[in-house]
Amino acid sequence: MAFDGETPVAWIRGQMSDPVTFYLQTGGVRPGNRRARWMKPTYLHLLAYLERLGYERVTSRHEPDNAAILILQLRLGFVVDGVVLDERFGPLVSMVKHLHPDQRDEYRQRFRLSAHDQ
Ligand SMILES: CC(C)(COP(=O)(O)OP(=O)(O)OC[C@H]1O[C@@H](n2cnc3c(N)ncnc32)[C@H](O)[C@@H]1OP(=O)(O)O)[C@@H](O)C(=O)NCCC(=O)NCCS
Repeated sequence: MAFDGETPVAWIRGQMSDPVTFYLQTGGVRPGNRRARWMKPTYLHLLAYLERLGYERVTSRHEPDNAAILILQLRLGFVVDGVVLDERFGPLVSMVKHLHPDQRDEYRQRFRLSAHDQ
């Protein structure tokens, strides 16, 4: 949760889905405060905290046309790892971020991904 004074502006909520994975269930920024760099620092703070707790990967699912969250997470080092059909929400893009560089390298080698500028 991030505050502007005493007003809550940005939040993220999630839970452990297995001993090394934290699932980001939902998050948002108040409509009048979007595109003002509230969510990016909130993510950075949460990701650092999750890493300190011992998590190795962070996952999430998003509607395919939600450019704002997809672009934000791609720019924070998440990758797309699939598309799922959820009977409640329809098609969702699945994303994952490896919190440790060696695991990200292993993932890239396993799928023979070529190097890209981040
Ligand atoms: C997605 C959301 C949380 C982004 O929050 P935000 O505070 O506006 O994001 P930030 O200002 O921190 O943006 C950081 C980066 O994300 C990307 N981004 C954010 N909003 C974007 C948009 N509308 N279109 C494209 N890129 C966007 C940009 O790369 C941006 O960096 P830049 O400002 O240098 O271009 C906000 O739009 C929101 O609350 N949306 C509705 C709720 C929602 O969809 N939540 C996710 C549910 S899964």
